[in-house]
Amino acid sequence: MKIAVFSTYQYDEEYFTRFNSGHELTFYTAPLDSKTVNLSNGFECICIFVNDRVDADVLTDLAENGVKLIVLRCAGFNNVDVKKATELGIVVLRVPAYSPEAVAEHAMALILTLNRKTHKAYNRVREGNFSLEKLMGFNLHQRKVAVIGTGNIGQAFCRILKGFGCHIAAYDPYPNAEMEALGVTYGTLEETLCDADIVSLHCPLNDDTLHMVNKETLKLFSKGAMLINTSRGALIETADVISALKHGRLGYLGIDVYEQESKLFFNDHSEAVIADELITRLISFPNVLITSHQGFFTKEAMEQIATITYQNIEAFEKKTALVNRVGV
Ligand code: NAI
Repeated sequence: MKIAVFSTYQYDEEYFTRFNSGHELTFYTAPLDSKTVNLSNGFECICIFVNDRVDADVLTDLAENGVKLIVLRCAGFNNVDVKKATELGIVVLRVPAYSPEAVAEHAMALILTLNRKTHKAYNRVREGNFSLEKLMGFNLHQRKVAVIGTGNIGQAFCRILKGFGCHIAAYDPYPNAEMEALGVTYGTLEETLCDADIVSLHCPLNDDTLHMVNKETLKLFSKGAMLINTSRGALIETADVISALKHGRLGYLGIDVYEQESKLFFNDHSEAVIADELITRLISFPNVLITSHQGFFTKEAMEQIATITYQNIEAFEKKTALVNRVGV
């Protein structure tokens, strides 16, 4: 099949070329949006990532260009108007789970770095400063951690927390029996957030979860709590989180995702003046750690993403069951 791969970097090309099972691939560094949609002309399939914007207008153009299949090389699909795609007869397939441990381990890396300040210690020691001033952390053992969403990644994260001896509270509309057996206590969102020392978000972005962390829900966290978001940026109302950080209601913030990330993440802006006032304010806090959507970025995850994406394409070609279809 002829496949146009959007938003590609060297690592995408490397893994999608290595696992290619006979398809004709064209790699575009450009993201897919209304300006670049005509690059899809002549392709039956397009392969996209988290920040490609596939709204109703783009989908209409894709359909006119002959695109029949969209394969997302990621789990989240909030950036695709799936209803419109279905109306236009375009099939949308995703990679629902690829090494959930990759993202869960990154969430734990954010927690440990923010807590034990290893990033600051690294820089200090390199400059000959061996002082412990301002490096004090807290034990994770016996702390209450609220896990919002216990799907693939949330479950992997709960298993890690269990090893640290945390009390794990969770909110998910579909509680998981295996997690309950592990000792996870399910409750309402309010009960789960109440007095949490750490809150970690692992649910999808949709109409119900948009800005679920806001000035009201932040009041439920334990004062000085840590918020971790490795899921999707718009789960958080960033202005409210900044206000909570300024007033000490929130003690730490670790994010791998950001609502306006598509203008910044995955690219080097070190010589540019960053116009986004919210992210520059976030960067200015000593207790905020930002990574640019790298939670998925392990060798194991890249192998699985490429393998499952090709399986999805072949299922479409062979008209076998589309197990990873979204929106139907
Ligand atoms: P999943 O689909 O396996 O699990 C999501 C869970 O959230 C499900 O158990 C679902 O019942 C639950 N949920 C749905 N609505 C909810 C609500 N209102 N409140 C609480 N829970 C709710 O998804 P998975 O694989 O665990 O991924 C979770 C999210 O992580 C994805 O949606 C994606 O946005 C993000 N992600 C981030 C990556 C990164 O590199 N930072 C990589 C992969 C995924």
